[in-house]
Formats: sequence, structure tokens, C-alpha cells
Amino acid sequence: MQNLIAPSLLASNFLDLESEMAWLENSKADWVHLDVMDGVFVPNISFGFPIIQAIRSKSTKPFDTHLMIVDPDRYISRFVEAGSDHITVHLEACPHLYRTLQLIRELKAKSGVALNPHSPVSLLHDVLEMADLVLIMSVNPGFGGQKFIPHSLKKIEELKNLLVKEGHNTVIEVDGGIDEKNCKDIVDAGADILVAGTTIFHSSDRDLSLSKLKGSK
Ligand code: DX5
Ligand code: ZN
Repeated sequence: MQNLIAPSLLASNFLDLESEMAWLENSKADWVHLDVMDGVFVPNISFGFPIIQAIRSKSTKPFDTHLMIVDPDRYISRFVEAGSDHITVHLEACPHLYRTLQLIRELKAKSGVALNPHSPVSLLHDVLEMADLVLIMSVNPGFGGQKFIPHSLKKIEELKNLLVKEGHNTVIEVDGGIDEKNCKDIVDAGADILVAGTTIFHSSDRDLSLSKLKGSK
């Protein structure tokens, strides 16, 4: 299977979201990655329900919502109602992670768990059966345009080996600092989905950037 690409809307032109969504819809992008930040879990605030609801009618692609918020259980149903197909919560924000992932699946969304750069893959062992995807953060969450942390490659490999060994079909998504140069190594390490904001939206030829990221396998 070819690796998938999830462009992060965070790097798009917020003044003209309608055109940005039209471009995404006609592009080879597989998912639309939506970064929700609360100013508490991460030192930044982005967007929430009204924006997701507003853009939902402009896309047929899966909405891949990455919740960088504390106590996500309070808002999961509202993000599903707003149009999210996948909900990814942070392990570091969930004291009852298994229950949170169960809740996401009960609401008929795909369940995802994200790991900050400091969190070891081994912490996921007992929730993998409840996770449709694992998102490895390859930068400190909160901002686009940061540099890829090289140690992330080892984490991706470790997670891939664990998934194969335990027989899970959970997919691996990697988020942060992904560009046309490092994408192949990330996919070779075991990534199934690459999130990219700056590399795609700030490119002078977005379709070409997308194709390069997609052809990593
Ligand atoms: C960071 C977000 C990322 C970010 C990626 O907190 O989770 O999705 O937008 O942006 P780039 O590709 O610019 O690193
Ligand atoms: Zn993200």
C-alpha cells in the first residue's frame, strides 16, 4: 500500500478557506488533518467546532482531527458531530486512555492516540487493541513549521515492530517537520500516513510537493 498524505490545514490561508478546501478536494490528498489547540495542553490556540463544521460541506475526504487539548472526553462527541471521521487524543492528556478510545469508537469514529516526543512507545502496549491509529509527534506539538526530531524514526520502527509482533492492524501516522527530503526515511521506518503543513501549503507547486511526499514508498 502506498503511504497516505494528510495535509494540515493549520498552514493554509485562513483568509480563504473556501479556496483551500477546493484545492484539497481536487488534490491527491487522502485525509484533511485538523489541528485543534486549546492554549492549555499546548502553548497555542488554533480553531474548533465552527470552522470544522463550516468546511465539512466542502470536502468528501476523511477529517482527521488531532486534539491537542486537555480533558478531550468532554468534547469528543461534539467533534464527531462537527464532522470528524478520526479523533486523535494525546496519551499525555488522558488518564483513562482506554476508556477515551472506547468512547471514540462508540461514536463511530476511528480512534487515534498521539505520543509527544518524550513519551515512549512502550506506554501504548495495553491500548493498541483499541486504537485504529497511532500518531507519532515528530515535533513538540503546538506550532507548524518546526524541525523534524530525528529520534522519531526509532520510535516509528519500534511501534511498527510492536504492531507486527502483536498482530494489530493499527496504522502509523507521523506529524511534524515532514518535508520532501526526510519523507522516504519516515515511510521506510514504518509510517503509513504523513501529515504535512508547511511543506505543502507554503510550496510554490503544492501538487508537486504532494506527489513527492506520496511517492515515498
Ligand atoms: C503541530 C501539529 C502539526 C503541524 C504540522 O502541533 O500537530 O500537524 O501543523 O505542521 P508542519 O508540517 O509545518 O510541521
Ligand atoms: Zn497535527
